[in-house]
Amino acid sequence: MTRRLKNSLLEAALHGIRDGVIVANARARDMPIVYVNPAFEQMTGYTEAELVGRNFRFLQGDDRRQRAVSEIREAIAEGRGCEVLLRNYRKDGSMFWNQLRLQPFEEKGRISWWIGTATDVGALHDLKDKLRNRQRALAEARASAPDDRLTGLRSRVFFDEALKREWSLCLRESRSLDLFLYAIDHVEPYLDTFGRRATDVCLRQVASGIRGAFRRSSDVCARFDDWRIACFASRVDGGPVDEFAAGVCERVKALCIHHPHSPISRFITVSGAAVSLSPDASMSLTEVLASLEESLEQAVIDGGDRAIVDAGGS
Ligand SMILES: Cc1cc2nc3c(=O)[nH]c(=O)nc-3n(C[C@H](O)[C@H](O)[C@H](O)COP(=O)(O)O)c2cc1C
Repeated sequence: MTRRLKNSLLEAALHGIRDGVIVANARARDMPIVYVNPAFEQMTGYTEAELVGRNFRFLQGDDRRQRAVSEIREAIAEGRGCEVLLRNYRKDGSMFWNQLRLQPFEEKGRISWWIGTATDVGALHDLKDKLRNRQRALAEARASAPDDRLTGLRSRVFFDEALKREWSLCLRESRSLDLFLYAIDHVEPYLDTFGRRATDVCLRQVASGIRGAFRRSSDVCARFDDWRIACFASRVDGGPVDEFAAGVCERVKALCIHHPHSPISRFITVSGAAVSLSPDASMSLTEVLASLEESLEQAVIDGGDRAIVDAGGS
C-alpha cells in the first residue's frame, strides 16, 4: 500500500466516523486546533475553518469552572491521556455533554500532537438524569406509601399519621391507648451468618408473628425502622399490658427461627417496650415515643427477649 493510498483511506475513515476526531498541535503556542473531522463539525455547529488555529477551550464558553477542565489541564501538564465528561456549547449556544478522550502522540520522545475523540453523550446523560429522577420519585413514593413492601406491615409514615389521629381521639373521648415497640435481638450476627435476603425473610416472619397478636382491625402494626416494629391498640385484649407485651416476645420465640449465633437463645427473639396511658393535654406524644424507645433500649441492655412496661404509663 502506498503512503498516499494509506492517507486517503485514513481520511475516508475519519470522515465516516460518528464520533468527533480532533487534533491539536502540542508544539505551537496555546495548542491550536489543526484538525477536526465532519462529525465534530456537526456536533459543535462550527466548521473546521472556524475552529482551526483556536484552542478548544472556547467551547466551554463561560462555563469554565468544571472539575473536568482541571482534570484535562493536569493530564496535559503531566503528558498523560485522560477521559472526562464536560459541558460544551455549540455555535447556537446550546449545551451538550462532551465525553472527551485525549491521548498524546510522541515523535522522537517529545509530545508533538494531542489527539482526541469527542462523543456527544447528551442524550445518554439526559436518560441517566431521567432515570435518577424516577428512582428518587420511586423512593419518595415508597417512603410515603401506607404499607411497608418488605414486611407487609404499615409504613412508618402511615403509623405516625395514624398514631397522631388516635392520640387526638383518645384525648377527646378520654380513652386509653396502648403502645408497643419491638426490636429483633442480635440481628447483626444473624445478618453476618445468613446474609441480607435470609434476614429479610426472618424480619417478615417476625413481623407477621407480631401482627398476629394484634387481632382487632383498629390495631395498627408498622415497620418503625430497619429492625423495629411498632404497634398501637386502643385497648389490648387478654389482660394487663405487661402480660400482653411479654406474650408477643413468647410468640416470636415460638416461631423457632434458628439463630445459631445468638448469645441468648437458639432462636430469634425480640425485646419490647410497652406503655398504657390515657392521653391528657399535659402529655406530649413525641416524649411518650422517646420514652418508649428508651425502655426498649433498657430491655436490650437487660439481656433481650423481654418486654419492659414504661412506668410513664397509667
Ligand atoms: C486534542 C484536544 C482536544 C480537546 N477538545 C476539547 C473539547 O472538545 N472541548 C473542551 O472543552 N476542551 C477540549 N480540550 C481541552 C482544552 O483545549 C484545554 O486543554 C482545557 O480547557 C484545559 O486547559 P485550560 O485551563 O488552559 O483551558 C481539548 C484539548 C486537546 C489537547
